Amino acid sequence: MDERILDGKVLESEESIEYSLRPQWLREYIGQDKVKENLSVFIEAAKMREETLDHVLLYGPPGLGKTTLAAIIANEMGVQLRTTSGPAIEKAGDLAAILSSLQPGDVLFIDEIHRMPKAIEEVLYPAMEDFCLDIVIGKDSGARSVRVELPPFTLVGATTRAGNLSAPLRDRFGVISRLEYYNEGQLKEIVTRTADILKTEIHEDAAIEIARRSRGTPRIANRLLRRVRDFAQVKGDGNTTFEIADYALELMQVDKVGLDQIDRKLLLGIIEKFKGGPVGLDTIAATIGEDSGTIDDVYEPYLLQIGFIQRTPRGRVVTESVYRHFDLPIPCVEPDKKSVQSSFEL
Ligand code: ADE
Repeated sequence: MDERILDGKVLESEESIEYSLRPQWLREYIGQDKVKENLSVFIEAAKMREETLDHVLLYGPPGLGKTTLAAIIANEMGVQLRTTSGPAIEKAGDLAAILSSLQPGDVLFIDEIHRMPKAIEEVLYPAMEDFCLDIVIGKDSGARSVRVELPPFTLVGATTRAGNLSAPLRDRFGVISRLEYYNEGQLKEIVTRTADILKTEIHEDAAIEIARRSRGTPRIANRLLRRVRDFAQVKGDGNTTFEIADYALELMQVDKVGLDQIDRKLLLGIIEKFKGGPVGLDTIAATIGEDSGTIDDVYEPYLLQIGFIQRTPRGRVVTESVYRHFDLPIPCVEPDKKSVQSSFEL
């Protein structure tokens, strides 16, 4: 099995299929009700005033629909979407070239905006605030700054780590929205919608089972649906029944609450090597041979959300739910660990 089946990151092989499954309009977008409601008001107000929409920062774990929302914003505003990412912008000139090629009103989407080099961020400040670029011409004592006007535009930034953005950049976004994990009902609706687009039959209980095991993430739900559909086609009669979904998910080693091998390695590693914690993130990462950034962005947020780990000042601890989940005896809490937990709770 692809170890990364539950990684919320988009795989290159699925970029185009993902694109075709995406909702195009806010009314088609399932979940994130508060974000949608706010955006629809801001979009309508901007359109009524014939202004560009204020800059929007979307943050939250990968796979929850930040890119989709950026495309929807452009669609709803009736403008073009231009897309780039923080790591793709290597020089100030790269950003200046993108900004000066925008049409009035365009949406510029910068994915992983927290990975944009800090020196380049400064080009964005006047661009976001006054729609202009300050270009330095010449060198040393002959250097002078020239202001170049830009067309008005909307910057939509996406990040998994809002805390990694500098305050001056964060402050220049008029709208800051946090995307939340989806609940089972919303994911079931998404799975059913996607099955419809893919023209594949899925039983309701199968859609619920996929939803339950998709760790709150539409991208994972759609990925699991496509793999389960393969099993239905090859091992069954093409219909995705509960039995087929359960069989396929077991074979892919996605457990009943959506955990994969990396989650298991992480949780069991904390239990076996650190007596359940507390242990620092970098130590866990080194122990299980995973990148600490991926654990931070992808694995830990979901494990925190379902209450399988807790953050304490001294590191991560697994909760009793983990012992129950793996059918392990719940250890007696040692006195010093108790004090760590209670000081954290206070
Ligand atoms: N496909 C992926 N995410 C979706 C969402 N939030 N709503 C509808 N379809 C989706």
